[in-house]
Amino acid sequence: MRKPILAGNWKMNKTPAEAVAFVEGLAPLVAGYEGVEIVVCPPFVSLPGVAHALRGTRIGVGAQNIHWAENGAYTGEVAAAMLQGLAGYVIIGHSERRQYFGETDEAVNKKIKAALAHGLTPIVCVGEDLAQNEAGVTDTLVSGQVRAAFAGISADDAPRVVVAYEPIWAIGTGKTATKEVANRVCGAVVRGTLADLYGAEVAATIRIQYGGSANEKNIGELMAMPDIDGALIGGASLKTDAFTAMIRITAAKE
Ligand code: PGA
Repeated sequence: MRKPILAGNWKMNKTPAEAVAFVEGLAPLVAGYEGVEIVVCPPFVSLPGVAHALRGTRIGVGAQNIHWAENGAYTGEVAAAMLQGLAGYVIIGHSERRQYFGETDEAVNKKIKAALAHGLTPIVCVGEDLAQNEAGVTDTLVSGQVRAAFAGISADDAPRVVVAYEPIWAIGTGKTATKEVANRVCGAVVRGTLADLYGAEVAATIRIQYGGSANEKNIGELMAMPDIDGALIGGASLKTDAFTAMIRITAAKE
């Protein structure tokens, strides 16, 4: 049984003070929803305050990126080891990092390995853009991203990775993939590729999220699909009401 995981990707939003106030308000509201793994991913500067505020709650904390090196001359970067005590998760290969910061499949793979080596749960993003979607190359592209991401990762470690299928044309646009399309890519394509790599049994244990304009209105039907094990949530995770509602609805599906 795969426990659903809802992760809020705050992107470049909220000051450290706003971040702490937000999670202090959120924690008591979602304390009872034990069937859902809940994660918030604030910017790096807010990690210490948020981690402190959430100590002893069931809300996990994630970073939005890491560098793959242990340390060194990489101005502006943060190593996995530096997240010790601050974060248990890290988003890797988000489409905005691939698009605006030139993150390659190879870099994504190295970052996943660094995250695993330091006991972090990587949330690895894959997904096609509008042109690729319209050209009908979604399956080939997403499958290729999954293969590249998991290159050299053992069948023992693979279940520690969470994959987020995020069609780029659905991110922040208000357009959501239909539940059927989202489930087909999460299932036939992402899980199918993982089954090729690790066998069906291992693939069945790996959690695959949907992301892209997920909100309190569409989360119920998305979570009812057999191959969707949670969501990576941008805009709606910045709002207490919307995020709390999504957690409640997901918990009710269990
Ligand atoms: P969105 O963002 O929910 O605002 O579309 C999702 C994401 O980019 O992870």
